[in-house]
Amino acid sequence: MTKKTILSGMRPTGKLHIGHYVGALENWVKLQEEYNNFYLIADYHVLTTNLNTENIYQNSIEMAIDWLASGIDPNKSPIFRQSQIKEHAELHLIFSMLITVNRLERNPTLKDQVRDLNIENVIYGHLGYTVLQSADILLYKGNLVPVGEDQVPHVEITRELARKFNNHYGILFPEPEPLLTKFARLVGLDGNAKMSKSLNNTILLSEKPEEVKAKLKKAVTDPKKVRRNDPGNPDVCLIFSYHKKFNPSEISEINSGCRSGALGCVDCKLNCASKISQFLEPILEKRSHYETRLDEVKDILRDGENKAHQVAKETMNQVHEKMKIG
Ligand code: TRP
Repeated sequence: MTKKTILSGMRPTGKLHIGHYVGALENWVKLQEEYNNFYLIADYHVLTTNLNTENIYQNSIEMAIDWLASGIDPNKSPIFRQSQIKEHAELHLIFSMLITVNRLERNPTLKDQVRDLNIENVIYGHLGYTVLQSADILLYKGNLVPVGEDQVPHVEITRELARKFNNHYGILFPEPEPLLTKFARLVGLDGNAKMSKSLNNTILLSEKPEEVKAKLKKAVTDPKKVRRNDPGNPDVCLIFSYHKKFNPSEISEINSGCRSGALGCVDCKLNCASKISQFLEPILEKRSHYETRLDEVKDILRDGENKAHQVAKETMNQVHEKMKIG
């Protein structure tokens, strides 16, 4: 049986944090063994909410380094920038004829973004954001799209576009399914439900042990545990949630130590920081390899872009053939 294809992507917003790892990258790395994977740097998608292009290139490189350092193997999975493959724009144009404005306006993810970012007038490209995403996925005939909950409506629109094209011009595209990430997200250092760059509550994948320690020291814990020996409630403590992920073997000890008051927050945080740094150590090592060899990173992107381009060209030839405009 031929392997199924996975396509996933992220917008390049700069250095990634441990929330990205837990929510997506860890899963991506595992999936490489079982599927054909394509990993896309969505550098045009950034424009939907920010027209400033100064940092896009640098952010794309930083993100590629974090992907590589986390274990994405460019020999198995091409890594490429959306902007370098013109077929994305072309398929986006064709798909934009197959969906109504009304349908796009009903997209709940768009509505959330408009609300969260306080956008008064939605630009045309933002409304069509998910049409471009559909082109990203279907150019490579992606069967599965590993994403978080918020992106599920986009995969649904992708399915609708695939169906619409297939019905109209003849069967070409698969109807992709979302592959939900199990361990959805990490709590931020400030206790916010989401670790996010814009909230400034992250631990970066590139952070050194001293920085991790300093950040954890300042993190909030159970507000009722004021003195060292006061009993605490790990269920409301974000440090405990990090222990669950990065220090699973000591979890029951920490749980009982916190509840009885035997374990103080300072010690608990230091332990947690050292476990997170242990986890980050190989990533930091690989990161410094690539940071000092930027040419290698650029070659990896060029190679990924060539491979992706081959597939994209082939799909567009088929699209033209089906549409009888080839
Ligand atoms: N929309 C995704 C996000 O904002 C990024 C993205 C662009 C993507 N193209 C994609 C994700 C294709 C999965 C598949 O996070």
